[in-house]
Amino acid sequence: MNTATGKIPMLGLGTYQLSGDTAVEMVKQALKVGYRHIDTAQAYDNEAEVGHAILSSGLPRAHVFVTTKVWPERFSARELPKSVDESLNHLNFEYVDLLLLHWPNPEVPLAETLEALMAVQQAGKTRYIGVSNFTTDLMRQAVEICGPGVLINNQVEYHPYLNQDRVIKVAKSLDLTITAYRPVAKGRVFADDTINRIAQAHQKTAAQVTLRWLIQQGVIVIPRSSQPEHISENFHVFGFQLSDDEMAAISSLRGNQRLVSPAGLAPTWDQPEASLTH
Ligand SMILES: NC(=O)c1ccc[n+]([C@@H]2O[C@H](COP(=O)([O-])OP(=O)(O)OC[C@H]3O[C@@H](n4cnc5c(N)ncnc54)[C@H](OP(=O)(O)O)[C@@H]3O)[C@@H](O)[C@H]2O)c1
Repeated sequence: MNTATGKIPMLGLGTYQLSGDTAVEMVKQALKVGYRHIDTAQAYDNEAEVGHAILSSGLPRAHVFVTTKVWPERFSARELPKSVDESLNHLNFEYVDLLLLHWPNPEVPLAETLEALMAVQQAGKTRYIGVSNFTTDLMRQAVEICGPGVLINNQVEYHPYLNQDRVIKVAKSLDLTITAYRPVAKGRVFADDTINRIAQAHQKTAAQVTLRWLIQQGVIVIPRSSQPEHISENFHVFGFQLSDDEMAAISSLRGNQRLVSPAGLAPTWDQPEASLTH
């Protein structure tokens, strides 16, 4: 499968709110269809199910790219390594592929957290490290602390209703890949006339066209589903191409409709360029 910078597969299965047998079955279904990238987090309380599904799939562990995340309450130098050990115990893995800071935490110095994250990587417990929900300022600070090429990814909300050009541009300049979470805007794209028109022209679904629009921008996608047929549908996004006009038509839908911004966790977000001019 295509990868961003050769490291992260461009398409993964999101697992937020998948639990118990459903989590196991959906991860197994994804691996059967061909997914080789699974996104979990300590906060999703499903690492044990994700790990079990992967280890019992018959695939070698090294063939599946697994991301997990550290919750901000555990960002101190003392707590972070413990949190990672707990994640590895739940997953029943020796290592994860990508370990992210789930949300920024201004109460712990960023340098302390990033040094602990780099130490965990040096100990072989994760292949790569990165961040999530980091603004342009926070990305710059993080790269300043770690040095170039150490952090490889920022996982952020991105879909046709949220303009993330600023974050994408700065990430690129810092050599960070972007993963889009909530890529199908939790289902909003299905009622969109523009997306449905383009989908019809390609004999694809609104989900497939939306995921294709993100991948053609070089953005990694991690749609989540609890339905085997949706998991399969979301995987078939590599055999067609959107034209420049189609890409632009979807991009023109973008505004500032952020769907994930929990009080007490969310930083002061970058504003889309357009809204600054009004
Ligand atoms: N880093 C962070 O802070 C953060 C925050 C949020 C999410 N995430 C990650 O990103 C992943 C994806 O985001 P998300 O789960 O919030 O939203 P999402 O993937 O945009 O939307 C999931 C919803 O869309 C539906 N859906 C997906 N594919 C479909 C299809 N082909 N046809 C019809 N409906 C479809 C699913 O319903 P069905 O189950 O019925 O298919 C589900 O209700 C998460 O699971 C998680 O791994 C990370």
